Parts: sequence; structure tokens; C-alpha cells
Amino acid sequence: MANAIEVEGLRKRYGGLEVLDGVGFEVAEGEIFGLLGPNGAGKTTTVECLQGLRWADAGHLRVFGHDPRRDVRRVRGLVGSQLQESALPDRIKVWEALQLFATIEGTGRAWEPLLEEWGLAHRRNAAFGDLSGGQRQRLFIALALVGAPRLVVLDEMTTGLDPAARRDAWDLVAAVRERGTTVLLVTHFMDEAERLCDRVAVLRGGRIVGTGTPAELVRSTTSEVRVEFSAPSAFGLDFLTGIAGATTVTRRRTGVVVQGTGPLLARVGHALVERGLEPPDLRVSLPSLEDAYLRLTAPLDDPVSS
Ligand SMILES: Nc1ncnc2c1ncn2[C@@H]1O[C@H](COP(=O)(O)OP(=O)(O)OP(=O)(O)O)[C@@H](O)[C@H]1O
Ligand SMILES: [Mg+2]
Repeated sequence: MANAIEVEGLRKRYGGLEVLDGVGFEVAEGEIFGLLGPNGAGKTTTVECLQGLRWADAGHLRVFGHDPRRDVRRVRGLVGSQLQESALPDRIKVWEALQLFATIEGTGRAWEPLLEEWGLAHRRNAAFGDLSGGQRQRLFIALALVGAPRLVVLDEMTTGLDPAARRDAWDLVAAVRERGTTVLLVTHFMDEAERLCDRVAVLRGGRIVGTGTPAELVRSTTSEVRVEFSAPSAFGLDFLTGIAGATTVTRRRTGVVVQGTGPLLARVGHALVERGLEPPDLRVSLPSLEDAYLRLTAPLDDPVSS
């Protein structure tokens, strides 16, 4: 399949600060691709360089084969974006904003269904200044989709949305992709990335430190599982460190945590029962994208052990 996005050797400096130091990744057409990384890692800078909103200092950038530095009009015609820092005049009404954007994009009244889809039908006549934070966010996403773009860039789409609205947004993004639109999603929510993204890239200190499907990233960074249970404080834990595969044992406010590899749940359970403890909450958690992310983005002198 053709690439919607190609980035290679992308560099960007702000004054003396090197923010992007040779970023590279590709997004296939039709994919939902997640860009992850700590605050200040350069995610917004990357997606804005791709849209020709910021000037890349060096590197190969293509959006559906077009260079955003040379062909910015073509690129903007193909991309819809919900930017992290967006604003509209306070007095513009929801429907007016949608119609205005549709007029600019030349898509007539195709914006009408977006009101319903993004839960804004009841706020149709409300002024932008009177919308709640989450309603503004939904409006910005709807505006990104007004031009029926081939690529939609969503920078922290669900920040500020309530839990139900977040889930609705995930379903809608999945539906947008079903229609053939490629999605570039910047997010700090690992559950969102794990649920939605076909592939992700993790940006740290201006470089990509991991890329692949969420499952691949998890496999490549850790095979540790975590077994947890509650135990009375008088219950000695020393024997747990002798269990095959166990690497660390910690007592926390919420209970005991044993980390390690292999069939740890069965082994811990067996050892506990042998010592007369049958905790009803004995459970295992497999490594998640969040664990992989924390490992990939940990400061080099402070490796994350959990
Ligand atoms: N216009 C600018 N002038 C100077 N420095 C900037 C400018 N825009 C961003 N930066 C700096 O570049 C770095 C990357 O910023 P960017 O907004 O790309 O990060 P981000 O990964 O999107 O972070 P966040 O998760 O907080 O949104 C930060 O150190 C930021 O302070
Ligand atoms: Mg950002």
C-alpha cells in the first residue's frame, strides 16, 4: 500500500535548542498511526512540519507524495487537522464555524452529519465562547473532518473529554478510518493508543526510540508480568524471592506485587497456598503499552524497573 506519510532525517531547531534530531517514520495509507512521547518531545512540532505549518530545517517529508515545504497548498488540501492550540472567535456559533470551514474547503453542507456524530446537535446555535472545554474539543475534531480529508491529524484529541465522550471519539475515529481516511494521532493516553492505533512511534528527546504495533513494542521492551494480592502485614514475604522467575517483591499500600517472567501467577499461587494464604484477589497483569512506553522514555540514568 502507498505511504500517506514519509518522514526521514527530520530536524528542527528553535534558536539554540535542537528539538527534532533526525526523526523518521512512515505511515501507510488507511492506517491509524500514533505518535507518543513525553511533554516537549517534539510531537506537535513533527505534525506541524508535516502540514507545512512550521518550517523543517532538514529532512525528507512527504504527505501523499507531496513535499509540505514546496507544495504546501496541495498538502493542506489533503489534510484536516485538529491542532493542540486551537481557537475561534468567542461569538461564532457552532453551525457557523462548520459552515465557514466547509465553504473554505468547498464541501457545501456535508458538515451537517458531523453535528450529530460529534454530539454537538444540541449546541448547534451556541456561541463558541459558551461551549464547555469538551464541547470545544469536539467542535475542533468536527472541523478537522469538514473537508473530507485523506489524512486527519488529531493532536491530543481526547484531552479534556469525559470518559464516555472519549469512548465515543474512539469509535468515531475508527469509523473515519473505515471510510479510508488515514489518521495521525498524537496522544498521551496509552489505552487510547493501544485500542486505536495500528502502529505507533515513540518520540523521546527529538528521536524515535521505538516503532511498531503496540503488541510489538510491548514484546520488544519487556516480558515481565506482575502478580498482585493482598496479605496481612504480619505475613512474611521472603520466600517469594525464591520463586522461579520472580525478580522483585514489593509491599505497597494496595498489596503485594511480585514481578518476574514465566508462569508467575501459578507459581506464586501455589507457594501462597502452601503457606496457608488464599488471597481472593490474586491476579496477574500482562505488560501493557504503558509499561513499554515508560521503559522507552525513562531517563537513561534512571531505568524504570516496573
Ligand atoms: N515556537 C517555539 N519556539 C521555541 N521553542 C518551541 C516552540 N515550539 C515548541 N518549542 C519547544 O520545542 C520542544 C518541543 O515542543 P512540542 O510542542 O513539539 O512538544 P510536544 O511533544 O508536542 O509536547 P506536549 O506533549 O507537551 O504537547 C519543547 O521544548 C518546546 O518548548
Ligand atoms: Mg504537543
